[in-house]
Amino acid sequence: MAGAGSAGKAGQPSLAVELAPAHPCGLALRNPVMIASGTFGYDGYGRGLTPEMDLSRLGAVIPKTLTRLPREGNPEPRWYPESYRVARENHEPVMLNAIGLTNPGIEAGLKELAPQWAQWDATVLLSMSGDSVDQFGDMARMTAGVAGFEAIELNLSCPNVEQGDLFSYSPRGTSQAIDAVKRHAEVPVLAKLAPNVPDIVPIARAAVDAGADALTICNTIPAMTIDLESRRPVLGNITGGLSGPGLHPVAVVLVYRASQAVDVPIIGVGGIFTAEDALEFILAGATAVQVGSANLADLWAPFKILEGMQVWLGERGISDVNDLIGAVEV
Ligand SMILES: Cc1cc2nc3c(=O)[nH]c(=O)nc-3n(C[C@H](O)[C@H](O)[C@H](O)COP(=O)(O)O)c2cc1C
Repeated sequence: MAGAGSAGKAGQPSLAVELAPAHPCGLALRNPVMIASGTFGYDGYGRGLTPEMDLSRLGAVIPKTLTRLPREGNPEPRWYPESYRVARENHEPVMLNAIGLTNPGIEAGLKELAPQWAQWDATVLLSMSGDSVDQFGDMARMTAGVAGFEAIELNLSCPNVEQGDLFSYSPRGTSQAIDAVKRHAEVPVLAKLAPNVPDIVPIARAAVDAGADALTICNTIPAMTIDLESRRPVLGNITGGLSGPGLHPVAVVLVYRASQAVDVPIIGVGGIFTAEDALEFILAGATAVQVGSANLADLWAPFKILEGMQVWLGERGISDVNDLIGAVEV
């Protein structure tokens, strides 16, 4: 793994990217490879990672989403297939989960987790999600002055109890949540959008108009698998979210369309297992990428993807990854 993540050394391509160019704090990443929320270790907060997995080599890590109050999560089973590693080995396109945002709540997160993040030699982003516009605002207010994260990612794939839909299903819900957060947040704010909307463009535009510094595209897509013999859904929650290989081309087109419509950086997420998967997002218009399910198949995945990107660029004499952003030829 030697050399992975080193940007711009003699003869090596520069991988450094900037995700919040218009924000006073900026969000400069050493390279474009981030760990997606909910997939940072087996519990979403780093369980299973070893000291050799040097997080400072990655662009950033995003621990699991924190909500206003603690959440127990959904009934088991929460994963399908049970092992993403085996699914990957068998080239299965389907990976489903219905975890249900199990988390200790933002108060405990800021009090107990953020001080640990502050000690890490890594760029950490805080992911948060609310049930209402007020909750988003409250949570953002609570983060003010707290150290340990460089930016906030809003998980907008969560039900808005006041309007009955997920926040990012509508330009209005998207805009209201971001606006509530931007009033209080001191750091850059990324808006993470849902994939299952008729048109991503009005949602992306609403997010940017409300002040989002960058867009993360996308979260999982609603899905269901039924076991024929038992006639039962495979997940305890009946339905869940599809991630992994099946999501990849869906996410690529969303990134492509959004990047044509807005001029803030976009982070591509969905089914990245290889350097080539990541580079496809960058050609489509992403400035950075997040690795999700691949971590659950192999905790070394983001390091391998990063190294593979570096090799791919080097072999083609591309000296700066920024030259590839949106460089798809259509
Ligand atoms: C087990 C699991 C838990 C997840 N938990 C969260 C979460 O807490 N917050 C969030 O914003 N996204 C969560 N996600 C979505 C991922 O961050 C990512 O957007 C999605 O899985 C697509 O990327 P992938 O195909 O690389 O997995 C979760 C995904 C998985 C597989």
